[in-house]
Amino acid sequence: MSIHDEKIIILDFGSQTTQLIARRIREQKVYSEIRPYTLPLNELKALKPTGIILSGGPASVYDDDAPISDPGLFELGIPVLGICYGAQLMMHQLGGRVEQAKSREFGKTQLRIEAAEGLFTGLEPDPAQHQVWMSHGDRIEEIAPGFSISATSDNSPCAALYHQDKPFSAVQFHPEVAHTHIGTDILKNFIFGICHCTPSWTMHSFIEKNVADIRKKVGNDKVICALSGGVDSSVVAAMVHRAIGDQLTCIYVNNGLMRTGESESVLRFFREKTDLQVIDVNAEPYFLGQLSGIADPEEKRKRIGYGFIKIFEEEAGKLGEVKYLAQGTLYPDVIESVVFRGKAPIKSHHNVGGLPERMHLDLIEPLRELFKDEVRELGLELGLPEEAIYRQPFPGPGLGIRIMGEITEERLAILRQADVIVLDEMKSSGWYRKVWQSFAVLLPIQTVGVMGDVRTYEHVIAIRSVDSRDAMTADWSQLPYDLLGRISTRIINEVRGVNRVVYDISSKPPSTIEWE
Ligand code: XMP
Repeated sequence: MSIHDEKIIILDFGSQTTQLIARRIREQKVYSEIRPYTLPLNELKALKPTGIILSGGPASVYDDDAPISDPGLFELGIPVLGICYGAQLMMHQLGGRVEQAKSREFGKTQLRIEAAEGLFTGLEPDPAQHQVWMSHGDRIEEIAPGFSISATSDNSPCAALYHQDKPFSAVQFHPEVAHTHIGTDILKNFIFGICHCTPSWTMHSFIEKNVADIRKKVGNDKVICALSGGVDSSVVAAMVHRAIGDQLTCIYVNNGLMRTGESESVLRFFREKTDLQVIDVNAEPYFLGQLSGIADPEEKRKRIGYGFIKIFEEEAGKLGEVKYLAQGTLYPDVIESVVFRGKAPIKSHHNVGGLPERMHLDLIEPLRELFKDEVRELGLELGLPEEAIYRQPFPGPGLGIRIMGEITEERLAILRQADVIVLDEMKSSGWYRKVWQSFAVLLPIQTVGVMGDVRTYEHVIAIRSVDSRDAMTADWSQLPYDLLGRISTRIINEVRGVNRVVYDISSKPPSTIEWE
């Protein structure tokens, strides 16, 4: 059976937690995709969903411009689960009534299960055990014909509902968040009990299907891939290579801005453990020449990006006719998120942006359907080593955007030494995998210090460590003081030219993760 024979389609009404619903379902080995609520009914039908979930969202069903999906989806004979706004919309469209609640319900609430069936099959009807997470200003006042109440809370007499004859259910709370302790049980009851899915979405089946798809698409043509040393491009390369072997050539451009050993280990792995063809271009002198005397962050980024495209094109040109570019686009980059109140979703950085058009290449994006943690799982399944898979993200412009001001060989050397110490201490203390990213930044100032009995006037290193799920938002990591102390002492003692270390305690927004 193909892994896409069964799928749960989530219609997105703009909730912050829509992506979480997809993740929770995929954790149960059932494939799930997010689509905008505006998806036309015939396209929804063509996807042949096994079940449909209507997500939460910030709107009110009675707003003039409320997001409304085609009510024809209730005529398809497919199970539907409404969550929060999705529950209210279901009631609104099927003949119930939703109103602004007298008291809004935000945060943790106790749920009383009235009917331990459907979504609540197998759950104890014991209120003390069922903490759920609510976030709503409206509430369902009158349920639609044919529905019954299956759970209540203090502020929501209709906290969960089910239809007596049709496979429709609705919950006012959010089963996808960790604060809803029974959330996973509820989603499992929906996908397995109500939709009758089988847990067949595994990385193994994903590889099988994608290998077949890539082979079919590529035929006898040639594919190139920019290998950066990061997780995504390494996994893409391993995946495409599994499918078409030597028809794939990877190009690794050393732009002179890599951290010590950042990509060597991946290159070594591919050379020693696989027969992947990697062209290794040392463009360090070219990049450092282009960056000489440049201090403006945008200008630096532009020159690094342009240089990459130029060198990549030159190398690819030597390979004869190439038809495809394999690229590590991930699912969060492709979800057509709903845009509310004019706020566009933040886009991630594309290092090879513009390349496919310039070189007339078609794209192969085998990770398009995956979240970052699934990419890691896939990498492990493909046999990549753990140290490549759990490497922290590293930006395309590399250390170039971690040196404030001009990039010189001397300043690069200082930053590289400081950076190694940060990573070394993060790893030996067990913190490396607990945070999203941790690194050193070289500041464009010097400060006064005293070493021995001598006055010094030297560089300052800032340490940045953040916790994040997807880099869209981030918090500074609360690293233990003794760890910060060790990092500081070692940098000042071991890196010649540095006499001060500071810790960055800003979150994103309003700061960003990188300093430039
Ligand atoms: P910011 O600094 O925007 O970074 O908060 C968010 C995430 O993206 C990484 N980053 C980049 N990655 N090319 C990349 O491939 C870039 O130009 C780039 N700039 C930032 C950053 O390390 C963080 O993980």
